[in-house]
Amino acid sequence: MVEEKVEHTIEALLQERRTFEPPGPFASQANAGDPSIYERANQDPDAWWASQAEELDWFHKWDTVFEGGFPHHKWFVGGKLNASYNCLDRHLASAGDRVAYHWIGEPGEERTITYKALYEDVCRLANVLTELGVARGDRVGIYLPMIPELPVAMLACARIGAPHSVVFGGFSADSLRDRMNDGGAKVLITADGGYRRGDIVPLKQNSDKAIAESPSIERVVVVKRTGEDVSMQEGRDLWYHDLIADASPERDAESMDSEDILYLLYTSGTTGKPKGIVHTTGGYMTGVSSTHRLIFDIKPDRDVYWCAADIGWVTGHSYIVYGPLANGCTSILYEGAPDWPDKDRWWSIVEEYGVSILYTAPTAIRAHMKWGTEYPAKHDLSSLRLLGTVGEPINPEAWVWYQEFIGGGKTPVVDTWWQTETGAIMINPLPGITTLKPGSATKPFPGVFADVVDDKGKPVGKGGGGYLVLTRPTPPMFRTIWGDEQRYLDTYFSRFGRDTYFPGDGAKLDEDGDFWLLGRVDDVMNIAGHRISTYEVESALVDHKAVAESAVVGRQDPKEGERIVAFVTPKAGREGDETLLQELRAHVAEVIGKIARPHAIIFTDDLPKTRSGKIMRRLLRDVAEGRELGDVTTLLNAPILDEIRGKSDALKAAGEEE
Ligand code: WTA
Repeated sequence: MVEEKVEHTIEALLQERRTFEPPGPFASQANAGDPSIYERANQDPDAWWASQAEELDWFHKWDTVFEGGFPHHKWFVGGKLNASYNCLDRHLASAGDRVAYHWIGEPGEERTITYKALYEDVCRLANVLTELGVARGDRVGIYLPMIPELPVAMLACARIGAPHSVVFGGFSADSLRDRMNDGGAKVLITADGGYRRGDIVPLKQNSDKAIAESPSIERVVVVKRTGEDVSMQEGRDLWYHDLIADASPERDAESMDSEDILYLLYTSGTTGKPKGIVHTTGGYMTGVSSTHRLIFDIKPDRDVYWCAADIGWVTGHSYIVYGPLANGCTSILYEGAPDWPDKDRWWSIVEEYGVSILYTAPTAIRAHMKWGTEYPAKHDLSSLRLLGTVGEPINPEAWVWYQEFIGGGKTPVVDTWWQTETGAIMINPLPGITTLKPGSATKPFPGVFADVVDDKGKPVGKGGGGYLVLTRPTPPMFRTIWGDEQRYLDTYFSRFGRDTYFPGDGAKLDEDGDFWLLGRVDDVMNIAGHRISTYEVESALVDHKAVAESAVVGRQDPKEGERIVAFVTPKAGREGDETLLQELRAHVAEVIGKIARPHAIIFTDDLPKTRSGKIMRRLLRDVAEGRELGDVTTLLNAPILDEIRGKSDALKAAGEEE
């Protein structure tokens, strides 16, 4: 499959030959302006990473920078620090009055939170959590909308050494339950609700449903956000505002070991339940602060930085919370949707707050492209000096549109490749040094060792395509999967051996040795920049009483990105009609969350299978993408494919909606 994909994509890429040198005025002021840092980091990666770790405040310095290698590595061994201290306390003397977050609620409220105020709120909640019996090492679940209490909750956990497990507010009760149970969380912090496109997301209701089957949760702390009526269970549920009212705004930060867990964050894998990615303290904080400072060229006293992701995903953890706060910079925190109340909401925020750096995903850029240039054109966006993207391969047209219509044709655009597992950006341009190519993430960050290899693990060299690998550990990478070490080894370190990390992505190297990412090569789909496995959606579908069997594939669409297409065989006696289609979409939303709803569902009496009964997803992918079919000789039931193909016209129409 990767060969096919590589072939496909190379054609498109070869047509994209434009390059952009760093603009002179940008280069001369850049945090990373000297190309020799690559050489320095290559020659002595440990010394390089140590120099980045030194930018943090350590209670006790490490004894060794790096121990071990893939799959087991440790960083800054013996070092002691606290993530919340690095994000807050150390800025108080020089920048306590600096704004940490300009918060903007979807309905229109605005709140300005200084470092001092954030520090006090974090200390209060840290004290509350201790009162509630949360001790060092206990896990705390967080299920909140994009409100200031979300970073406060994360930092309060970090302050007392309790790993947090944030669950994206768009996930369902079932998803929340599974994550709470896997992590064994003791306390859940949630809200009465959140706003999304004018609607209310019933977070407390979902929490109640989840907790009914999450026996480890002892207490629930509820933030009042919408003021909706919610049921509060006596003895279990407590209002956030009542708890912090009397709490002290001072609290020492625990001295944590560099390798102590900072947080768990769940992400989709190819099979089975979501994986609890385990991030530690010293290496993670080093990675996120260093990449944030150098890639986004942060000037903490001047920049207004906006990462328009949701904190529920890793992008928000690393580049809304830990990276920006460690660097003492001012960020925008926006609660809502980009098109609410109108499609220029983002651009009015950029104008009003003078945003200088914007980091978002290709899916958002494509949505703005679709809505039209009149929306950005209505606003003065001249404060922007740097743009970034993450989450999926960015098509060159979208890259160029972003630079032209948002960046005024002058800003560098940094395409950053990384994953929940890597914790921080791994492949990216440095905007004061790197020649940019629309569609390429260019080069590994200093101290990151990446390559592209073939099936046998042999480097393909310049001009070749194959599998992306990382050949040496970096500090911010995850250490294991929570409670499942074997799955950690099997998923990431079996394909090319124990000493090579396989992220699951295809890639190509061009003649300059620059990296072009080609998307996933496994059964993980990338939906609007978020990872959803075909297996999860299939399980949700067959969980419905009318479904006998299902197969799910991703359909690549150059305009829309990847879309979920489901092939479903209803049980005898059930019609595959519009009613069932809507029921199934609603059911998937219920089991996983709205983002996992199939965009199209094709009902079929049978699925193409091999003689041994394996569903041939490869052929279904061909059907979904309207390609010539691949090899069908091993098929048991070849005629069914013609039937399915006949229905593929209907595919465009069925169930397509945002
Ligand atoms: C994809 C998001 C191409 C990739 C930070 C990866 C990208 C998965 C890029 C991780 C990029 C992320 N170009 N593909 N710049 N950035 N990806 O864990 O397939 O939600 O494996 O982390 O997104 O998704 P995750």
